[in-house]
Amino acid sequence: MTRHFLSLLDCTPEELNALVGRGIELKQLRAAGKEHAPLKHKTLAMVFGMSSTRTRVAFEAGMQQLGGHAIFLSPHDTQLGRGEPIADTARVLSGMVDAVMLRTLDHADVEEFASYASVPVINAMTDRFHPCQLLADVQTFVECRGSIEGKKVAFVGDGYNMCNSYINAARQFGFELKIACPEGFTPDPALLATTNAATLVESPQEAVENADLVVTDVWSSMGHEAEQKERLEKFAGYQVSPDLMNHAKRDGLFMHCLPAHRGEEVSHDMLEDPRSVVWQEAGNRLHSQKALLEFLIAAR
Ligand code: CP
Repeated sequence: MTRHFLSLLDCTPEELNALVGRGIELKQLRAAGKEHAPLKHKTLAMVFGMSSTRTRVAFEAGMQQLGGHAIFLSPHDTQLGRGEPIADTARVLSGMVDAVMLRTLDHADVEEFASYASVPVINAMTDRFHPCQLLADVQTFVECRGSIEGKKVAFVGDGYNMCNSYINAARQFGFELKIACPEGFTPDPALLATTNAATLVESPQEAVENADLVVTDVWSSMGHEAEQKERLEKFAGYQVSPDLMNHAKRDGLFMHCLPAHRGEEVSHDMLEDPRSVVWQEAGNRLHSQKALLEFLIAAR
């Protein structure tokens, strides 16, 4: 059966922990200058319907480092942009490449693509989930503090795709998640109802109290740019700053998937604060995505 990675729920907790451990091993192999090329002659198609820096470079460099090749496809220069159906594209690409990665706004598009594909399909971010980011985030936490199981994590800000992914991560990795969002921007209640590990709280301070990890994301994600002015008002008070971080544990960490909007969801000094591990987190996109590619492609 073809395995896909559309959300963290497509893997068992054991598989996810193994992926995180493998990301750490692959990082060490690269640091030691050791060649590891299990994906020789394998090709990844990367379909980007929205902008990307980290995800694209991590997948493209990752495929090259694993001995394979990646093809960048945007709707502007493929027939997808001219209306060729997703179902047709999925079947055509399945006959030519070994895996497909998609970034599209509508999660239903990735689900439809996967339902017609006969090669692994990876969700590289949709309006619903960003599971690749969570592999890097958990890897970063494990590198800095050991296992995330039983730890307390705070998500402050927009109850959108990153928040949703943290809800799934709390369930799969066994940590406690406290979520603080402005009214009208809370995560999907049906998703929250899938786990006892994640709860909504009243304020950012309550979420961050005694946290091992504090996470936020931009207030106007891709697809919400037109609402930016209105959101700035509604999200006032939800900025993560060194002062807010003082409610967390003394060794609490701060993460942000980036790109960040300084002065909005993060204060101007937060990313450079000693508690911030955002650059390590971004770098780990490479290693964690290599682990995922190895798991989905080499294991077939
Ligand atoms: N965090 C993240 O997915 O970054 P990009 O949008 O640059 O890929």
